Amino acid sequence: MAERIALFATAARGTEDLLADELKELGARRIRQDRGGVRFMATLDEALMVCLWSRIAMRVLYPLGAFEAHGAEGLYEAAASIPWEEHLDPDTTFAVDATLKDSEHTHSGFVALKVKDAIVDRIRDAVGARPDVNTRDPDVRVVAHLSRDTLSLSLDLCGEPLHRRGYRVRPTPAPLKETLAAALLRAASYTGEEALVDPMCGSGTLLIEAGLIARKRAPGINRDFAVERWPGLGTRARELLADLRADARRNERKVTVPLLGLDKDPEALEAASRNVRAAKLSEEIQLAEGDATKLPPLPASGGLLITNPPYGDRLGSGGQKGMKSFYFKLGESLRVPGWRIWVLSGNPAFESAFHARPSARREMWNGPIACTLLGYRPSGGGAEDDSEAPLGVSKEPLDVAPVRPQHEDEEDR
Ligand SMILES: C[S@@+](CC[C@H](N)C(=O)[O-])C[C@H]1O[C@@H](n2cnc3c(N)ncnc32)[C@H](O)[C@@H]1O
Repeated sequence: MAERIALFATAARGTEDLLADELKELGARRIRQDRGGVRFMATLDEALMVCLWSRIAMRVLYPLGAFEAHGAEGLYEAAASIPWEEHLDPDTTFAVDATLKDSEHTHSGFVALKVKDAIVDRIRDAVGARPDVNTRDPDVRVVAHLSRDTLSLSLDLCGEPLHRRGYRVRPTPAPLKETLAAALLRAASYTGEEALVDPMCGSGTLLIEAGLIARKRAPGINRDFAVERWPGLGTRARELLADLRADARRNERKVTVPLLGLDKDPEALEAASRNVRAAKLSEEIQLAEGDATKLPPLPASGGLLITNPPYGDRLGSGGQKGMKSFYFKLGESLRVPGWRIWVLSGNPAFESAFHARPSARREMWNGPIACTLLGYRPSGGGAEDDSEAPLGVSKEPLDVAPVRPQHEDEEDR
């Protein structure tokens, strides 16, 4: 893959433009936004750079072809027309992940099975032996997407999706995906040079992603990628990645700004504390029990307050009316002079109840939930525009009682 090949990086809907910007910075060429992802051209070196460094992409796919396919036979014929023997050999394990959209078929498992049969038969016919399926940890992951009667087949360079950074050791009920949290931070122009507070931090995803940005740490530094095990490219990919990882480690920097998470739920804080430790950011991120409707004083030098409040009535506070009153109180509490605010809300009542005029908004999807990301200029700080607000670098300690990780003596995971 010395020449540039066409690749497709997937992302949460509504974040495609943010991913396109990121890919440009990472050296990708001929970038074109599409629904649910971004098409681009890259050499192997550049593609690996994307796998290691993209904070927003979910998967990096190498498209092999798109075919019209009707019925079970059509699926098999389409899949069998690809020269799989160029990508797998009998010693390679593989798995097929299938997704459907508006298709005559109703079971993705059936589509995956037809594609799997075609791959096995094609390789057995070509080389006299077949590769085995391993759904848990395959060397090669084939991605099949059937949209109406168009079957698209790709190889996934990453294997495990890129949001699996390896630090989420304790989830909470409604965590943000790591890649979506990174997209929110990019939308808010967070570069790691200003203080950041998440007053409803849950399992700590926004804080940890902010910590990785502030540290200039590659999000994929602690994981490997499927392409390292591909029969053809694996050896070269491992060599290139060894260099990219070494460079990434050398170029990390110290975090010079405070990063604070509050939550009123001790269990969420315990999860956040474990995740922060697993991300090796215990020094950089401070956690404390607190009520977002009664925010403790924050440094006057300002910063970014970013959060995703509860969308529904988990608070047990009286249905939608209770949520509106909660959002109203947040509007009173969170508008700290000098601090710009970004909120991802999945409850349409949020915006009016928060009673402030957003200066930025975008629609995006948190899994199946349609959400709105709202940006607010700093109040009383005089800045005219969020993106141009001065980056208030502050080393002042935040005035809150920190939560110590309860398992300080545990090994980092
Ligand atoms: C949608 S979750 C945040 C998820 C988080 N972004 C993550 O990735 O895990 C909302 C969080 O708000 C917290 N919360 C609800 N009301 C709160 C309040 N008044 N003060 C502080 N935290 C609150 C909940 O305990 C929950 O952890």
